[in-house]
Amino acid sequence: MPVMNHSNCEPSIHPRLIDATVIANTLICREHFRITFECADMTGARAGQFVHLAPARSASHPSDTIGTNWSPVPLLRRAFSIAGLVAAAPDRCHIDVIYRVVGTATRWMASLRVGDSLSVMGPLGNCFPLSTGKRHAWMVAGGVGLPPMLWLAEALRGADRDGIAFVGARSRDLLALTVDRNVPVSIDGTRASPAAREFARHEVPVVISTDDGTFGFAGRIGGALRAYFAAAGVPADDLVVYTCGPEAMMADAARFCAERGIECHVCMERAMACGTGTCQSCVVAVHEPSAVDGWRYELCCTQGPVFDAGRVIWSGVGGAVQH
Ligand SMILES: Cc1cc2nc3c(=O)[nH]c(=O)nc-3n(C[C@H](O)[C@H](O)[C@H](O)COP(=O)(O)OP(=O)(O)OC[C@H]3O[C@@H](n4cnc5c(N)ncnc54)[C@H](O)[C@@H]3O)c2cc1C
Ligand code: FES
Repeated sequence: MPVMNHSNCEPSIHPRLIDATVIANTLICREHFRITFECADMTGARAGQFVHLAPARSASHPSDTIGTNWSPVPLLRRAFSIAGLVAAAPDRCHIDVIYRVVGTATRWMASLRVGDSLSVMGPLGNCFPLSTGKRHAWMVAGGVGLPPMLWLAEALRGADRDGIAFVGARSRDLLALTVDRNVPVSIDGTRASPAAREFARHEVPVVISTDDGTFGFAGRIGGALRAYFAAAGVPADDLVVYTCGPEAMMADAARFCAERGIECHVCMERAMACGTGTCQSCVVAVHEPSAVDGWRYELCCTQGPVFDAGRVIWSGVGGAVQH
């Protein structure tokens, strides 16, 4: 298995704009699809980075029709975390993206068939830093924050870290994982098990929560994280937490880590019109001691999407995290 180089997480200097061909697009749970496309190799892409997707220019769509004001295809690209990337001979690769159908772009993506084309720009953004030397690496994911963790799990295994995935969903039928029915899952959050095949193949056990209690720990994933930490006895200074998902969930994980002195990295989501630092649509407010007011905006697309959790100002989701 190739080992991803996460020692330098600077954004790609030369993202590529290429056409890709769909090779699979399947429903994996309610409202969630996994699309796999083949494109020119994206050598050097790392977990945490994303691709910016749009219809291929060569494809014809109903929205091309003059006078039609109903547009089933997105005018602007949308960002999607790379959920997996494998080399395909020669100079080609297969990229996995997992998406939840919520609006214009994701409805267009769900309509794509094997052999259809799409336009891919990437890899974009920075990556999850693995260079800390800490033994324990916990991934905390909720909803469509899961996809980048699937690829991060592969990177953690390559870096010989002890990874655990904490995965939360609103309900069992919104859990975008292949659960092995023969493997028990903890209902009190204190044990991780190889119940999710996507993580088990990288030797990463999971703790699963559902808000409605239909599977695993009943409640938010932050509750399971706290229960596991209390039981595990892992030293805070030998642990790094990576989190991606709803902002309130990430703010909670950041708070959990800040209170215990645990290193934490968050993968932020913003509407991204350009993906390349031009339109300024994707700002994230961060603490900046050298700025006049002690804070400034950074761009999620080129200075993120992965940020040190302690730098992010979590306004609107329960107040700032104190460090
Ligand atoms: C770095 C980055 C990585 C991302 N990775 C992924 C990924 O791996 N998978 C993925 O599905 N999305 C991901 N997104 C979000 C993605 O870019 C789109 O914003 C999202 O899929 C909605 O696009 P849309 O055109 O279908 O919906 P739009 O037409 O743009 O929005 C329709 C409505 O849906 C709401 N909405 C948007 N997102 C969600 C959501 N997650 N749940 C519920 N309602 C929502 C909007 O607020 C709006 O009201 C990522 C975003 C960023 C910035
Ligand atoms: S998406 Fe345009 S500046 Fe970030």
